[in-house]
Amino acid sequence: MNILVCFGTRPEAIKMAPICLELTKQKIPFKLCVTAQHREMLDQVLTFFGLKPDYDLNIMKPNQSLNMLSSRILTEMDKIFEKEHFSIVLVHGDTTTSSTVALSAFHRNIRVAHVEAGLRTYNKQSPFPEELNRQITGRISDYHFAPTLKAKENLIKEKVSESDIIITGNTVIDTLFIVLKKIKEGYTNNHIEELKSKIDFNKKNILVTGHRRENFGLGFENLCNAILELSKDEDTEIIYPVHLNPNVQKIVYAKLSGVNNIHLISPLDYPSFVWLMSKSNLIISDSGGIQEEAPSLNIPVLVTRNTTERDEGIYAKCSFLVGTDSNKIVKKANEVLENDYSFNVINPYGNGNAAERIIKFIDSIR
Ligand code: UD1
Ligand code: UDP
Repeated sequence: MNILVCFGTRPEAIKMAPICLELTKQKIPFKLCVTAQHREMLDQVLTFFGLKPDYDLNIMKPNQSLNMLSSRILTEMDKIFEKEHFSIVLVHGDTTTSSTVALSAFHRNIRVAHVEAGLRTYNKQSPFPEELNRQITGRISDYHFAPTLKAKENLIKEKVSESDIIITGNTVIDTLFIVLKKIKEGYTNNHIEELKSKIDFNKKNILVTGHRRENFGLGFENLCNAILELSKDEDTEIIYPVHLNPNVQKIVYAKLSGVNNIHLISPLDYPSFVWLMSKSNLIISDSGGIQEEAPSLNIPVLVTRNTTERDEGIYAKCSFLVGTDSNKIVKKANEVLENDYSFNVINPYGNGNAAERIIKFIDSIR
């Protein structure tokens, strides 16, 4: 069986890295293709995990439209499938890379296995365009690696055959554990050392990220206003690695530059980001991956979205859905910080052996 693993953005790379490592460990041959829908943010992950793509489509262009991105991925994937035979393609999650690579494989009669399958909001505007990307990828896929029981139940309701669904946990927890082990063993780098010298970790530390398209404009304005309000407490340090999407950069730098205790920095490489998460008292984010990682670190997350396809963490009270209303964000942040809110739950998203389960299944159908 000729296996192709394909991804394109930072979170996909973080979540597919343990699959590549496990395939290598089990000596199962595979090829790696990156669309490079992201460039710098993808390369940070490839470098850290020593992943060397066999194909690099180098698709990223500043601020290109979703249609342009999709059409270029379809065209370039077709050239690869013309050149080399694959019997199965592994894709991840809900990006434009996931859905278009799955479609291009389907057009060539190649089986598709979907990692992180079955998450749903059933609201096609939120997250946009990810909800539909994930549904499309699910419809195309032959095998579905569902991280949780809830995800499996969603797929069953959509009449996916139960025998094609495998509950695995989320591979991001595998990656997180690999990195936490390294940090525990003394791993450091320039970014971590710089953060140590720049930030007072005895203060209340709030880590912020954001990139959702549905929050562009007013949502980001409100988020920035909330951050400005929170920064008025001088016993607070706010660290914000700003996503490279120009729609994010423009508004965040315009509204938040020049405030002493707001640190706007470039996106961090994964180990530095994990280190920073572990030092934080609170995370404010619209990220999917961070909602999954934070419960393992016992850090509460305010989710700046109106919907989430990851409500296991909400039910376990590890994360709180606050939307992008400034007052609501400030109120909840203060409540969490003042009460030193913490929880001790088993992470509902996984326990670190998802990749092993996925590769065991792949091996069984070879
Ligand atoms: C993409 C995914 C989103 C995922 C997110 C993770 C889609 C439609 N969106 O959103 O699902 O949650 O990644 O971060 O698939 N850019 C750079 N360098 C980089 C990365 C991005 O300069 O390394 C800039 C470019 O101008 C690029 C723009 O950001 O055109 C947007 O990138 P894109 O992949 O389209 O969307 P994201 O907002 O990153
Ligand atoms: N992350 C990172 N550096 C950063 C910000 C986030 O390595 O500066 C990691 C984070 O730990 C998580 C993933 O990137 O694993 C989340 O990516 P993002 O929020 O861009 O995408 P999403 O998870 O929402 O698809």
